[in-house]
Amino acid sequence: MKSQPQRILVTAALPYANGPLHLGHLAGAYLPADMYVRYQRAQKRDVLFICGSDEHGVAITVTAEKEKITPQAVVDRYHAMNKEAFKNVGISFDNYSRTSLPLHHKTAQEFFAEFHRRGILREKQELQLYCEKDKMFLADRYVEGTCPSCKYTQARGDQCENCGTWLNQAELIDPKCKLCGTTPIVRTTSHWYFPLGDFQTRLEAYIKERSARDGWKENVLRYCESWFKEGLKDRAVTRDLSWGVPVPVPGYESKVLYVWFDAVLGYISSAKEWAAGIGKPDKWKEYWLGTDTKYVAFIGKDNVVFHCIVFPSMLMAWNDAGREQYVLPENVPANEFLNFEGQKFSKSRGWGIDLQDFLKHFSADSLRYTLAINLPESRDSDFYLKDFQARTNNELADIFGNFVNRTLAFTEKTFNGVVPSSGSIGPLEKEMIAVLADAPTKIGDLYDRYKFREAVIESMNVARAANKYFNDGQPWKTSKSNLEQCAMTLNTCLQVVRSLAILMEPVVPVMAQKIWATLNLEGTPSAAGWESAGELKLQAGHSLKKAEILVTKIEDKQIEDIIEALNNPAAPEQPKPAIEAKPKISIDDFKKVELRLALVISAERVPKSEKLLKIQVEIGSERRQIVAGIAQHYKPEDLVGKRIAVVSNLQPAKLMGQESNGMLLAASDSTGKLELLTVNGDLESGSLIK
Ligand code: 2FM
Ligand code: ZN
Repeated sequence: MKSQPQRILVTAALPYANGPLHLGHLAGAYLPADMYVRYQRAQKRDVLFICGSDEHGVAITVTAEKEKITPQAVVDRYHAMNKEAFKNVGISFDNYSRTSLPLHHKTAQEFFAEFHRRGILREKQELQLYCEKDKMFLADRYVEGTCPSCKYTQARGDQCENCGTWLNQAELIDPKCKLCGTTPIVRTTSHWYFPLGDFQTRLEAYIKERSARDGWKENVLRYCESWFKEGLKDRAVTRDLSWGVPVPVPGYESKVLYVWFDAVLGYISSAKEWAAGIGKPDKWKEYWLGTDTKYVAFIGKDNVVFHCIVFPSMLMAWNDAGREQYVLPENVPANEFLNFEGQKFSKSRGWGIDLQDFLKHFSADSLRYTLAINLPESRDSDFYLKDFQARTNNELADIFGNFVNRTLAFTEKTFNGVVPSSGSIGPLEKEMIAVLADAPTKIGDLYDRYKFREAVIESMNVARAANKYFNDGQPWKTSKSNLEQCAMTLNTCLQVVRSLAILMEPVVPVMAQKIWATLNLEGTPSAAGWESAGELKLQAGHSLKKAEILVTKIEDKQIEDIIEALNNPAAPEQPKPAIEAKPKISIDDFKKVELRLALVISAERVPKSEKLLKIQVEIGSERRQIVAGIAQHYKPEDLVGKRIAVVSNLQPAKLMGQESNGMLLAASDSTGKLELLTVNGDLESGSLIK
């Protein structure tokens, strides 16, 4: 057997505070992490479980711009929402922090400044896309274009979501600003780069060593190998943005750290915040800097490169100075993805169920159990509502819940709710007791090896064996014919009920605690200790509390209603965008603009332009040409005969080589829909609009 470390540090990926958590997030990282931690706590090992919100990055600023609120308001909303959702589903973090805290900014800046001071970072000039209209560099998700490698048309500036290629934004084909849709120009900017390539040999050795020692998952090793095969390259760790951790280097006042540089360090800040919170500000060091810490990082597969390559190399770089020695992950048991009803969870398509919504309808423990059985441990897996119902009703209720309830109810009825004494043990008891005795080691070993699905299956097998034992013992008969034998059966069953509370606690903590309370036992199942699940601890004569239903079955109707709602989604509630007010003007300012009614005589597309139409209008006795960017909203033929509003005293201009003499008026909303302002009735063209 491997020797146990002094301490275990467990982190789960910091979710972006940019939207509500869904079931896929839970299955990817948080549920397995929580099960692992709960198991380790029951083993009485010293565990620290850390997480928090990832509050930087372009996704958040894009949301803020869409909603016309500040990025801080976005992260405040989702940080609170997600923290609450985690609590409701029983994820037992020791600390849930957030990366917008000053404490975190300081930590991230210390790392950057240290690397900068020691000359580890390299400064480079690079060509970046710049939007002249929005007056900004288009970092990461601010730009979209066609992926040069797979030709997917919605690739982002930093990565193609379709083929996974890490892109340099200048390589995007036909790039467009995500904010205004115009084509950006290329400009030079400077950034600091972290030399990942310099660490490749050490990283390969590190992963080889840890994986031999702690058994890394195949899927994780495969991802790492493909990165190594491609060869690690320098990566920019600064961005031209204003939301994020400011770069602590003169001349970089308008830039921030790349979100991934600061996010992984959020694990350290969160531990610092935890330590300060318990009044022992240095205690985080025992975990992060302890030589006898085992650090396990739970993530989803899309985060592998950052946790197996980027973060370890940053820690190596820090450690190279020979001062504090941070622990590197001993293991990164990344999960694949969970699909929902056969399709990928998708925020933009509105597919999937938010965790909070789900918990309004069903119990957290039923969800935890079904997810645990379906964890995407080695390949993508599926969550189906019908399967959720079947798992809850046929397994959790009929096997686990039923065994607990029938044992407690029978004891109540036959032995007045008091643990009966056991007599001399027969072969059936021997078998049952042997199953119990083996369970903690057998199941514990699976937890220690990150095989959570199997751990849950084995735990349920104890309940299965117990049901069989109950049936074979036929206490409903022996209660009449052989009360001593009946007492023996029920004593053993009650011991199993107690053991199951301990063994199932990592998966269904609320149910486990409920059993514990009904058994009238002090404290919690995990405080009793994992190993004690293999022992017969209930004393004859101990009185029990009245049993309540443990698992509520799910009706067909409940599932049908949800499926129906999914297939006919109500239009997602869009917050009404706030109106961006311009400075007030005087009536005289307004009078400078001449607006007139114009009649469209003819219209045609401007060659080689997707957006422009060339329109001939009549304004009173005058004929004019106006070029307008409405080709994506109107067909030329639909415009003919329309009576529209135009600005008639605008300086003429040339657009794509075409003269434009005036401007159409149109309204467009935040979804990009556009409609021309038209005039009903039979007023003459050229009429003034006031
Ligand atoms: O993928 C994500 O949701 C990232 N916010 C995960 C960050 S994990 C760590 F680096 F903080
Ligand atoms: Zn733009």
